Amino acid sequence: MNKVTLTKMPELPYAMEEALNRLRINIGFLGNDIKKIMVVSTLPNEGKSFIAIHLWEQMIKAGTPSVYLDADLRKSITMTKYGIESDGKKKIEGTSQYLAGNKHIKDVILHTDIEGGDLLPNVENVVNPSMLLESHRFEEMLDYMAENYRYVFIDSPPLNLVSDGERIGSMCDGAILVVRGGETSRNMVRNSIQMLERAGCPLLGIVLNRVKGSKGGYYYKRYGGYYGGKYGEGEYYASK
Ligand SMILES: Nc1ncnc2c1ncn2[C@@H]1O[C@H](COP(=O)(O)OP(=O)(O)OP(=O)(O)O)[C@@H](O)[C@H]1O
Ligand SMILES: [Mg+2]
Repeated sequence: MNKVTLTKMPELPYAMEEALNRLRINIGFLGNDIKKIMVVSTLPNEGKSFIAIHLWEQMIKAGTPSVYLDADLRKSITMTKYGIESDGKKKIEGTSQYLAGNKHIKDVILHTDIEGGDLLPNVENVVNPSMLLESHRFEEMLDYMAENYRYVFIDSPPLNLVSDGERIGSMCDGAILVVRGGETSRNMVRNSIQMLERAGCPLLGIVLNRVKGSKGGYYYKRYGGYYGGKYGEGEYYASK
C-alpha cells in the first residue's frame, strides 16, 4: 500500500470553503447513479484541478469515500503543485504509467491518512495520450473506482484543444463545467455544453470560478458560485 501526504495543500479562506461545501452538498442530491464526475472547462487555467482536488478533499473530510483521478495526461502539475510525497520510499506511479502498464489499479492507487481518501495523480506527462484514454484499461479503472468509492472526481484537460475531454466525458456519469469569471465567453461555454452533450455526458452544473473582486482583490471575496441555475456573483443555486 502506497501512502502519500499532500504537503502543499493550501488552507482555503472561509468563504471559499463554504462555497465548496455547498457544492459538495448539492452533489449529494444528484442521486445514487452519479458517481464518475468529470471536472472540466473550456480553456486552460480556469480552475479545474483546483475545484476537483478541493471538492475531493471536502468529500473525504465529510466522511464520503472518494477518489481524485488526474486524467490530464498532457500537462498535469498536480504532483508538484500539491506537493504529493510518498510516506515510504516507494516510487509513485501515476495515471499514464498505470494505463501503459499491466498492474492492477488497486496496486497503484495512493492512500492518504484519511480513510477512504485516495487519489491517482498523473506523474509522467505524455505527448499523445489518446491511445491511453481509448484503452480498455481506462474504462476498467473508472469502473473499479466507481465500485469502490462513492465518488470519482476526474480532473480533465480543457475541451477546446484536443478530443481527450470528450473521450473522458463519454465514460462519465456527468460533468461539472468550471467557467473562469470574466474570461470565458458565453459562446465558448455554449460550445463546451454542446461538446459534452455530443459525448453523452450530462451537465451537472457550472461553477463560476476566479471571479475578480470589485475591491481590487484578485479573487472575489465571496467566491462566485454557479451551479445548475443562473448566474449570480457570490451566490449559489441548487441543482435543477
Ligand atoms: N477559486 C480559486 N481561488 C484561488 N486560486 C485559484 C482558484 N481557482 C484556481 N486557482 C488557481 O489558479 C491557477 C489555475 O488553476 P488550475 O491549475 O486549477 O486550472 P486548470 O483549469 O486545472 O488548468 P489546466 O487547464 O492547465 O489544467 C492555479 O494556480 C490555482 O491554484
Ligand atoms: Mg488542471
